[in-house]
Amino acid sequence: MRQAGPHRILRWMFVLLLIPVLLASVRARPASAAELDSDFNDPRRCAACHTEIFSQWDGSMHALAVTDNVFRKFYEMVVEEAGPPAVEFCMKCHTPVGVARKELPPVTGEKIDNVAIKGVFCDFCHTVTPTGIGNAAFDTGHSTTKKGPFENAVSPAHATSTDNVYRTSEFCGMCHSVTHPISGRPIERTYQEWKESPYNTGDPATSTQCQDCHMRQTSDNPATGDTVRKENPGKAALTGPDRPHIWTHYFVGGSALYQDAPNGDRRKAMAMARLRHAARLEINVEDVPSYQDRFGSFRVRVTNVGAGHKLPTGLSEVREMWLDVTVRDAKGKVLLRSGAIGENGGIDPTAAIFKTYLGIGRTNVKLSCCFFAIGERNKILSVETMTRDRRILPKGYDEEKYAFEVPKGAAFPIKIDAKLNYRSMSQDFANIFYPDGSFKVPVIRMEEATAQICPGGSCDDGSLRVPPKKKASGARRR
Ligand code: HEC
Ligand code: HEC
Ligand code: HEC
Ligand code: HEC
Ligand code: HEC
Repeated sequence: MRQAGPHRILRWMFVLLLIPVLLASVRARPASAAELDSDFNDPRRCAACHTEIFSQWDGSMHALAVTDNVFRKFYEMVVEEAGPPAVEFCMKCHTPVGVARKELPPVTGEKIDNVAIKGVFCDFCHTVTPTGIGNAAFDTGHSTTKKGPFENAVSPAHATSTDNVYRTSEFCGMCHSVTHPISGRPIERTYQEWKESPYNTGDPATSTQCQDCHMRQTSDNPATGDTVRKENPGKAALTGPDRPHIWTHYFVGGSALYQDAPNGDRRKAMAMARLRHAARLEINVEDVPSYQDRFGSFRVRVTNVGAGHKLPTGLSEVREMWLDVTVRDAKGKVLLRSGAIGENGGIDPTAAIFKTYLGIGRTNVKLSCCFFAIGERNKILSVETMTRDRRILPKGYDEEKYAFEVPKGAAFPIKIDAKLNYRSMSQDFANIFYPDGSFKVPVIRMEEATAQICPGGSCDDGSLRVPPKKKASGARRR
């Protein structure tokens, strides 16, 4: 027997090195029909052909629906307070396949398998049968036929069938509408907010559906009610035909906290672009203080120009949108400030905050203490309903009135600066996850507006006017 010389060893090493390369190229080839499971498939199976769609979905909140920290923490709090009956209620929207496969309880979710853990994923959405609106109104029976919007799709890996429900808001409405399971009262109602809005004409052909805003967004076009909502020509699968429009699968909303998820940076930029095309601000000066020692007043109007539902929507008992308004004189002296963030991270309580509050009867419940608290036995989820709702209707507006005093020595022109801010949750709420306060919830500037006030009405020359001698009549206004 010849001994293995150095060349031989090198040759073997070369072959060994090649094996992973060969395996990788086998994996990269489109999967054949035989390779798709007859049960729910991991989204990576679909990625072999639907590469682009996969990379859009990967890292989306749908992909993180059962693993994201905020959900986990909230869910743990609920289960602790309301007991095991809450488990299936929550999980049916956050891991529909985990619930269908009876992998819950245990409440902690350690039995959720590697596919169900993918949250709201391809094979769930493209095989599901909707049965209504809200509280997970669907049948999760899996099928090897993938349903979608195309009339003539041919795939080497699976049968296809056309279902027009994919083109409608009703498809999203199965989950984007949460009703209290016992009181039957609304908790989160994005679908109904859309249904009652001008975006729904009653005729699907002329309505602007959820998909028209949320599945047309690309990196360079936010696709809101305030922007164009362009076609996105391309291929739905590597081997598929060219088509005039492929629906994107980023599913971007307002929240952009998961920057370590795949494509986190791009997703954050897209969420910010969406928020910046949601609202418009206007300052309307009402009382012009004609000289020092008088009051001035103005209104700030927030119009929802971009969202097809209330602004904000969804988890709006947790999200915060508010006006941050500053009035300064020409020397920079602050005459009014409303909406600043205090040292503990809380928003100035006098600010105009647009959100919802949940509670029992008419009492608001502080979320960080007892969301869905179980007060009495057999009464799960005792937070019953929205007790207060200050949000902006689609294509509607809300106004906040402000008054300020012009003290002695103040200089004209007076400048009003109004900003509309958004953050995914209050700092209080974030501190539950990071008790050391190390996570600062990012504040996103949605819109801003400025105005100047000058006595006599004109600020053209910007010069300081001499206050008139005679005192103007009329009551002080706030
Ligand atoms: C071997 C490649 C391949 C794999 C793997 C694959 N598909 Fe497809 N799929 C295609 C092709 C090709 C089309 C047709 C595209 C077209 O007509 O534009 C298609 C079409 C579709 C459609 C559109 C159906 C319609 O009628 O509108 C859906 C939905 C779909 N696939 C879902 C999936 C899901 C979910 C998976 C993973 C479980 C998957 N596909 C895996 C190749 C594949
Ligand atoms: C939340 C549900 C949902 C998830 C998750 C989802 N899709 Fe879709 N998908 C849709 C809807 C809705 C449409 C059609 C939109 C329309 O017609 O208005 C669609 C369209 C498609 C199409 C047709 C081509 C197109 O984009 O227009 C394909 C193919 C497809 N999806 C594949 C996938 C794959 C692969 C995944 C996982 C990586 C996936 N989908 C995840 C809901 C979903
Ligand atoms: C199976 C239930 C289900 C269906 C169907 C569904 N979603 Fe979702 N969606 C969720 C859940 C759950 C989340 C939140 C996930 C999390 O906890 O991170 C979510 C999150 C989102 C977000 C991100 C919200 C944010 O705060 O940024 C958007 C946008 C969205 N969905 C749009 C849609 C659209 C559009 C459709 C219809 C084409 C749809 N969804 C269908 C369950 C669903
Ligand atoms: C006219 C365009 C438009 C339509 C139609 C629309 N949306 Fe939105 N959506 C937006 C904009 C803009 C935002 C960002 C502002 C905000 O957070 O409300 C948004 C945000 C969201 C959010 C994230 C809210 C948050 O801050 O956590 C969810 C969830 C959502 N939309 C779901 C839906 C669903 C479901 C439908 C259909 C029932 C729908 N949207 C219809 C434009 C639209
Ligand atoms: C009917 C479907 C449904 C049910 C039931 C449901 N959710 Fe959700 N959940 C959603 C949707 C849709 C969103 C996305 C809304 C948004 O982001 O504004 C969401 C978002 C969330 C988020 C925000 C995640 C984030 O990262 O911002 C948390 C937390 C959450 N849900 C917790 C729960 C808990 C706890 C329960 C059970 C008490 C529950 N959900 C029951 C559909 C549901």
